[in-house]
Amino acid sequence: MMERARIGILISGRGSNMIALADAVREGRVPNAQVAVVISDQAGAAGLAKAKERGIESQVIERRGRPRTEHDREVVDALRERNIDLVCLAGYMRVLSSEFIEAFRGRILNIHPSLLPSFPGLDAQKQAIEHGVKWTGCTVHFVDETLDGGRIIAQRVVPVSDDDTVESLSARILEQEHGLYAEAVTSVLSNSCKG
Ligand code: GRF
Repeated sequence: MMERARIGILISGRGSNMIALADAVREGRVPNAQVAVVISDQAGAAGLAKAKERGIESQVIERRGRPRTEHDREVVDALRERNIDLVCLAGYMRVLSSEFIEAFRGRILNIHPSLLPSFPGLDAQKQAIEHGVKWTGCTVHFVDETLDGGRIIAQRVVPVSDDDTVESLSARILEQEHGLYAEAVTSVLSNSCKG
């Protein structure tokens, strides 16, 4: 039997995308995969407890005021030690160093709450409301040296209504994010999408 691809998920907070992806993997909706580790750069990330509840190994690697390259080296070492094949950023609030990107080139994915290339960076839902767009959505893309600019793997479209707040729109997008990540990981692992 083919070895299952080992996924490492990086989080900083709530971890709802991490859980949605881990559940999809466990339920066999992402064939030939396993979530081997969850790494958080925040000791207090709510997602850590959720990972623990599901018996997923987790590790905290705090930045502790160190330079980005030093922190990233520790994260890369932790991922390598566990033979991680695919790195999924899920609400990981750090820009990766070029060394990290190089170490896993074409094997790092991120999920973003807009239809990229519109509204990269922080507060994507707020940007969408302020621009008055009628449709927005979410995107899973490969991570390269650009900010949210790597090749797009999968997207879902979400309508914006006139009375939306950042909270109501974020919740509607998040619901779609949860299905999208599993779909994107499946297409990357089946080699139908390359970085
Ligand atoms: C999501 O909206 C994701 O698109 C963005 O950060 C948020 C993380 O939420 N990158 P969660 O931690 O997965 O619940």
